[in-house]
Amino acid sequence: MLEIDIYPLEMRLEKVSRRNAINILLGSGIAALGAGTIYPIIRYIIPPAESGSGTSSVSAAKVGELKPNEGKIFKFGDKPAILVLKAGGDPSSAASYVAFTAVCTHLGCTVQYRADIKNIWCACHNGHYDLNGMVISGPPPTPLTAYTVAIKGEEIFVSSAKA
Ligand code: FES
Repeated sequence: MLEIDIYPLEMRLEKVSRRNAINILLGSGIAALGAGTIYPIIRYIIPPAESGSGTSSVSAAKVGELKPNEGKIFKFGDKPAILVLKAGGDPSSAASYVAFTAVCTHLGCTVQYRADIKNIWCACHNGHYDLNGMVISGPPPTPLTAYTVAIKGEEIFVSSAKA
């Protein structure tokens, strides 16, 4: 059967270019959706590498600043770190404190101390670490990097040097 196109050439070209524009828009939308879906999955599977801050020691707090069963976030170079005075700990004894990087080993959120459950918690995906920095539950793949705590005078120093 013979088909007769009743539209003039200009209208047919306009239809084709409109169709191309719609196809391009749909294609880019689907590509953006795919990238937006795949990127978080890849970031979940491959956690960010922890870069060294270059800092070896900082004053994290003053003696008496923290109460037992309390934590504090401080800057360790260009990264956050966390200092915790353990429940029942003596504020004047370095052995009563623990310090870690506060960068979650999962996707890099900043962790915090939860006095109610006495562990270090990442709110992003409900990751829990104990006061040795070990993963208790949640998606973090590795423990938190531990720092050394020392008291000199009235200052609590945190250092990346191994004890
Ligand atoms: S970033 Fe996912 S649990 Fe911390």
